[in-house]
Amino acid sequence: MMVTVKINGKEYSKDVEPRTLLATFIRDDIGLTGTHIGCDTTNCGACTVLMDGRAVKSCTVLAAQADGHELETIENEADKELSMVKESFIEENGLQCGFCTPGMIMTSLYMLRKNKNPSEDYIKNSLAGNLCRCTGYVSIINSIKNANEKINGKKAVVK
Ligand code: FES
Ligand code: FES
Repeated sequence: MMVTVKINGKEYSKDVEPRTLLATFIRDDIGLTGTHIGCDTTNCGACTVLMDGRAVKSCTVLAAQADGHELETIENEADKELSMVKESFIEENGLQCGFCTPGMIMTSLYMLRKNKNPSEDYIKNSLAGNLCRCTGYVSIINSIKNANEKINGKKAVVK
């Protein structure tokens, strides 16, 4: 079946099998390999992308379900807020092996657009669907606070 999506502002049409997962479609059919696949079972969050502005785990969505929709991935260099989140993760050492990082960053972007002054508890709860095996999360939370200051100009409430 033909699937047409806009990814990072560019339109793509591909003929895929109906069972194709969105994560596989983005990586293998489109060639945007910044979106990672960790578990393929909706647990790790490494595959998180934005679909029509909402964070989704792309291993849990069929490519066919994304037909006609707009996606944003970690590669979107035109998105200034996404660039700020990426910078913040670098500045606060919010990554080690980097495997979880694309998903963490896309979830963070969604979170900071939804809540312009998130508390630390809110940040932690928002990361419940994203697993990191390396960092212990403290540097990730600091990265998100830093990103919040860049994007929203406010300090997260420390709790
Ligand atoms: S690869 Fe999608 S949640 Fe782990
Ligand atoms: S940085 Fe290695 S899994 Fe998160």
